[in-house]
Amino acid sequence: MPILPSLYHSSDVIDLCAGSAFKYGPTSPPSIADFSSSSLTIVMVHWTDNVHRIWWKEASIYHIYPASFKDSNGDGIGDIPGIVSKLDYIKSLGVDLVWICPCYKSPKVDMGYDVSDYRAIDEQYGTMKDVEHLLEGLHSRGMKLVMDMVANHTSDQHEWFKSALASRDSPYRDYYIWKKPKVGENGEKLPPNNWLSLFSGSVWKYDEKSDEFYFHLFATEQPDLNWENPKVRQEIYDIMRFWITKGVDGFRMDAINFISKDPAFPDAPITVPSSKYQHAAMFYSMGPRLHDYVAEIGKILKEYNAFSVGEMAYLYDPTEIIKIVSFDRNELNMVFQFELIDIDRGPFHKYSPKKWTPREFKDIANKWQVFMQENDGWNALFLENHDWGRSVSRFLSDTHELRKIGAKMLATFIGLQSGTLFLYQGQELGLANMPKSWSIEKYKDLETINYYKQLLHDKVSQETLNTAMGEIQKKARDHARLPFQWDSSDFAGFSSIQPWMDINEDYKEWNAAVQVDDPSSVFSYWRSIFDLRRTYKDVLVYGKFELVDPTNEKICAYRRVFGCEAALVVTSFSDSVVTWTLPQELLRPGKIVLSNYGDVKGLQTEMVVRPYEAFLYILSS
Ligand code: NOJ
Repeated sequence: MPILPSLYHSSDVIDLCAGSAFKYGPTSPPSIADFSSSSLTIVMVHWTDNVHRIWWKEASIYHIYPASFKDSNGDGIGDIPGIVSKLDYIKSLGVDLVWICPCYKSPKVDMGYDVSDYRAIDEQYGTMKDVEHLLEGLHSRGMKLVMDMVANHTSDQHEWFKSALASRDSPYRDYYIWKKPKVGENGEKLPPNNWLSLFSGSVWKYDEKSDEFYFHLFATEQPDLNWENPKVRQEIYDIMRFWITKGVDGFRMDAINFISKDPAFPDAPITVPSSKYQHAAMFYSMGPRLHDYVAEIGKILKEYNAFSVGEMAYLYDPTEIIKIVSFDRNELNMVFQFELIDIDRGPFHKYSPKKWTPREFKDIANKWQVFMQENDGWNALFLENHDWGRSVSRFLSDTHELRKIGAKMLATFIGLQSGTLFLYQGQELGLANMPKSWSIEKYKDLETINYYKQLLHDKVSQETLNTAMGEIQKKARDHARLPFQWDSSDFAGFSSIQPWMDINEDYKEWNAAVQVDDPSSVFSYWRSIFDLRRTYKDVLVYGKFELVDPTNEKICAYRRVFGCEAALVVTSFSDSVVTWTLPQELLRPGKIVLSNYGDVKGLQTEMVVRPYEAFLYILSS
């Protein structure tokens, strides 16, 4: 027996593979056979017995922001035919699904997240025929289409809201949330409570005609739907069926955990005494009927075997999230929870600063990895989307000579964890945030602008303004919305005219054309990650996740294990060399199959890990 009993305790669970032993924690999967030695119970464990295999766990997703991906008609704004023209590029990465942000008819106060007609395509993005072409193009290449479903709110230009606003007797009045004013000491009409909108100011807007306020978590032009009203729910379900019938393969459910609010709408506790309005997510991020509603959505999705991922901001409690993603609850396949992405968010606002360490970064990743595998849930893996700055700029540095190495390190860190992997357009090229020299006038997004205007309105000190600008330079949504950098021609090959947002200054060096055929590029590295997830599907998709050397402050290493297969992922978050003593039990024969420096030969007891180094080692079984 190749085990030294002294290394183990009688409560340990041990897997014997290829003559070596892996020791698991106390919450390992059930045993299939017991062997006894004099002092120790050895349990042969096969993680393989514990997994639910299903297509959406094996899939990877490319996320597109239509306005910034590719302009086909020379108006400076990306569109659906532009996406269609780049399907071979997307396919060549090796992804399985494409998620596009909303392109329904919309006044675009919030870039399409304010829908005025869910069954029509905004003319800026194209036509219904173009969507049909997109579907054909994707399906013929073996890929699927995921649409964004904005179900928490509509545009104030939606016919439902126009009618609701026009008369209290409208059949659509109760599609939205209305409340009587509070009356102030001097008889003034005050908002019904003190909740802060996610886009600054109050969540309530006064309607003089009816002497009532309506509720909007986001912009005033985005009134929240009243999900308590069964007719509203039915409308949304009908819209989902409409798109599924058209051929769409699933949905990303926008702000879906906000659909049930505390019906009492109580005042939020005062956390920022200087502010009139207070952060109130505790009253709307997991309301009392959330699971009832999401279960109804899940039923429809299940009927069509459709893909689903729910956006769930301000919800960090795993016990709530597992109710949504636990395999047999059939609510949603997976959710975007933002604990990792929020790592540098201070206590008050997205733009309040917070320092973080690599140790915290990996602890958060570990928390969700372990929690999901122990509770039969599933993670959505992402480091970027259209609402945040670029990962290489936020978490490392885009001015560093190691930007390319760093972008690949982050790809390794996120790309080999357990979960469905999402890649945001341009991340595959290591694209960066706007240059710091660009002033606030270059920023176009309402979240950024409203926040900055509020600071000016509050006449904050120059120091506060500088701090805020520093945070905007890291986290603003605008960074991810800069036009895609296709090549080094004028306007980066994105458009034939000056686009709606300026092109990043680095486009001549950082673009798709220079990377696609370069085997050492960030693009090729991402392609390898998708490829490896297919080649080593058992271990990289379904394998158990386990941190290695968990207390190390600079190295984030983890092991994936599936039956007798195992993989070791090593990433360094340090911009200088780190000497790392490898845990003894990892020194097993195997091969390096991915390395961001490209020249790692194998494992040694003392590894000299270079700045932002990353590699994947497959252990022989
Ligand atoms: C989340 C979306 O990702 C964001 O872009 C949008 O502004 C809000 N939901 C409101 O729909």
